[in-house]
Formats: sequence, C-alpha cells, structure tokens
Amino acid sequence: MNESTARISAATLVRRLGPLPAGGSGPAYRNLAERIRNAVLDGRLAVSAGLPSERELAAGLTLSRTTVAAAYTLLRQQGWLDSRRGSGSRLRLPGTDSGAVADPARSVGPAGWFGVPEPSGPDVIDLATASLPAPAEAITAAAAKAVADLPAHLGGDGYSPYGLLGLREAIADRYTLDGVPTTADQILVTNGAQHAFTLTLQELTAPGDRVLIECPTYPLALDAIRAARRIPGPVGLPGPDQEQCGGPWDPDLIAATLRQTAPRLAYLIPDFQNPTGAVMDAETRAAVARAARASNTPLLIDESFRDMSFPGREALPPRMASFDSGLRMVSLGSLSKSFWGGLRIGWIRAAPTLINRLATGRALGDMSGPVLDQLLAIHLLRDPQDALDLQRGRLASGAATLTGALTRLLPRWQASRPTGGAFLWVALPGPFASELARLAPSVGLRIAPGPRFGPDGTMESYLRLPFSQPPEKLTTAVHRLAAIADRAAERRPTDVSGWLA
Ligand SMILES: Cc1ncc(COP(=O)(O)O)c(C=O)c1O
Repeated sequence: MNESTARISAATLVRRLGPLPAGGSGPAYRNLAERIRNAVLDGRLAVSAGLPSERELAAGLTLSRTTVAAAYTLLRQQGWLDSRRGSGSRLRLPGTDSGAVADPARSVGPAGWFGVPEPSGPDVIDLATASLPAPAEAITAAAAKAVADLPAHLGGDGYSPYGLLGLREAIADRYTLDGVPTTADQILVTNGAQHAFTLTLQELTAPGDRVLIECPTYPLALDAIRAARRIPGPVGLPGPDQEQCGGPWDPDLIAATLRQTAPRLAYLIPDFQNPTGAVMDAETRAAVARAARASNTPLLIDESFRDMSFPGREALPPRMASFDSGLRMVSLGSLSKSFWGGLRIGWIRAAPTLINRLATGRALGDMSGPVLDQLLAIHLLRDPQDALDLQRGRLASGAATLTGALTRLLPRWQASRPTGGAFLWVALPGPFASELARLAPSVGLRIAPGPRFGPDGTMESYLRLPFSQPPEKLTTAVHRLAAIADRAAERRPTDVSGWLA
C-alpha cells in the first residue's frame, strides 16, 4: 500500500468535506460516502490519505458511529477504501492496484495530455501555458548594453558554472533589498527555474524518496519528480469553491504530513501558487517553516511568480526565506515570468556549501550558462521597473477581461480572484475538465484540465485558465469554451479517458 500520504484528523476531514449539500436526500451513510468520494475526485482529499477512525469521525460530524461505519463499508465495497487490521483505512481510486499511485514514479496516464492531438494554426488559442510576450523595448535596450559589455569577457574561457559574478550579485541584492540578506556565494545561476528545480531535486533526493507537493501543483515539477523516480506525496489545497479562512494551505496538515510520511524534500509555491494563484499568508509561512525545521525537511520554495503582483495591490508577505534561521531553505526564481521565458535565466538561493554541490552536479549535464544572456539579465535586474510595470499591467488587464467574460458567458463556473500571477483556477459545476480538454481542439483551443495538476488523476472539476494572452484572444477563448461547455458536462467522469477508464 502506498503510505506516502498522512492520516488526516477528523477535524481536517470535516473541513475538507465542506458543508452538507442542500436538499441531500437518501440515507445519511450514503451521503457521507458520496461526500468523501467527491472530495477525492476534486483533489480536496489526497488519494492514499488515511482516514480517521469511525469513532473520531462520528464525533467530528455529530453522526452515529453506525452511520460512519456503514459509509466506510460502502466505500470499501465500491473500491474507494482499503482497510487493514491495525493500520486503519486509506483512500484509493477504484480499479487501481491499491490506490492509483502504487508506484507513482512509474505512473503516466492521468497526468498526460489524454491523447488529445495538439491543435495548430494561426487561429488556435493556447490556454495551456501561462507566459507573456516580452517587454520588447526593455529587452532590446538591455541586449544592446550586453553586446557593449561582451568584449571585456572574450579574453576568458567563457565557462562559469556558478553564473557570472555580476549576475549573482544582482540577484543577491534583490533578496537583500527584500529583507533577506544574501551574498553572491549563495546564488547559482541556472537556465531557468525548471533547471533549478531538477538540479535541486537530484542533489537533495534519491530514487524512491518522497517529495511533498501541493495538490494541485505545477505540472512540470510533478513530471520531473516522476521522471527522476521520486514519489510525489500530495497535500491538498482546496479550490475557489471550497475556500478556507487563512487561504488554502493547512499548516497543521502540512506539519502532520511532514511528521508522518518523512518526505526527503517539500516543494511549495507560496507566491501566486501555480495553478491556484493563492498567496500564503505570513502566519502560515512561519508555521510551515517551523514544521519543516521540526521534521528536519528541507523546503524548496519556488518564487517564479513572486514579482507578478497586479499594480496597486498590497505588498506580498515576506519571502519564505526570511522565516529560515539556519539557511536550510532553498529558493528558486526566474526571469521567465517577470520578463520573458526566452531569456532562460533562473537561479537557486541556498547555503554556500549546497551551492558548491549544485554547481558540481550541474556540470554533469550542462557546463555553464550563456555569457551574453547573463550580461543582458544583469541590466534587466539592475533597472527592472519599466519592464515589470508593463508585464504586471498586461496580467492585470488579462485577469479582468477573463474574469468578466467568464461571469457573463459561464456564470456557473467559479473562478479564483487572484491579486497577481498568471492564471485563474476555475471550479466547474461538475467533473468534466478532461472532456472539455478533449473537445477544445474542435473549437481551436488548447486547455489544461485539473488532473494535469495532480499525481493521481483527480481534480476533474477544475481547470486552469491563464490570462497571459491579449484581452481580445481571452474573450474569444471564453466564447469557444461556452460553445463546448454543455456537451462536455453531459459526460460522466467514468466516460473520460485518463482515470477510471
Ligand atoms: C511554478 C513554476 N516554476 C517553474 C517554472 C519554470 O520556469 P522557467 O521558464 O524559468 O524554467 C514555471 C513555468 O511555468 C512555473 O510556473
């Protein structure tokens, strides 16, 4: 049995189940079983999570123990629960071998693109990726300055596995300005944040190790974890239809998961989380940092979207690293979201000893980053404001357009209300996200359904919609979604290829 997910307390389970549906009819045990099943399908409860005892849940829900026992029996009969004497009951997906993720490092199906052919052509709108066009003027000006700087570097051998010193200093200064004192020897320049992620994963974990992830999370991190044969251990983040006060992160659940499942690394995106767009508040940051310290788990903090607050919005909580007293936290960042993905400049901030190990590891696959691009990045980072203002403004107007079009054309879809980042996380009125993705090419759209953002094929009732495209394309895209929404909704989740096939 897969034990990579924590046993959840009755209080957490009650919170995750949400309120009783209005007008629910039928026996209480059937309603309870259905609520638990729906919470798994929506990703609110992780597949393989351990359930509380019947007695504890009965007390938490003020139901009789017989009702809870009958609900567990029904779930067991339907294949949603595994019970072993002495080790309690664990959730699973029916039709899978002891849970969908008996060996998640091997599993591929649900997280793939469901065999949908990629649409192409000038009229296709790609809502599967979330990247802006470049701030052309700022990039062109920085490139001209970089070309002028280049001759001073041509006498050397051109290799800098740690990154150019000037760029490491510019990145370190940004942390220091943000209240996290940092020196250049704490920075390794990488070819983007994805490179930074895989280098850190390779250095801090080994095949078979567990890596705690948020569920939903950034799909390419999940793919990298599985490709490296590490085991993703999800902690659920409720969607916009299930909002909890204090935000979607539950610090008690994160602490329990760290304690009980002993992951080798925990990967979190506290700033405009991908895909929910949520921001972790300062109190939760402090609690998560404390829990990581207590369980001795290194935190890998992805700050790719940190700079993408909408203009005029309140300042973000302090960087996660400011809650780290002993340099045990690893942060990664990138210019891809704040400036342009085509730059391929990212970085890792960590203790100098770890930076040395990472630079050595880097040489196995990639000797060094390009000098000219790093020179360009120095100029952007030393004078970022105009370009950042442009990109933030583009995102804010994209968010307003997309939110307005959804409200008008698909009023039953419930979208998050981000204050930055590049996407809405949308709760659909039913579990048909994969069906929507399957139909999307027929109307010239490409979309990423909820299951793409988790390890086990759940989250069928969710969809990520980026707002990085120009406003007119976003409006057209919502019209196209509205044209296929009813057809997609008619399908039951069990008809959808990807899981429960
Ligand atoms: C959360 C997150 N991390 C990392 C990356 C990778 O970014 P880069 O282009 O810098 O490799 C992305 C790109 O979408 C992302 O959304």
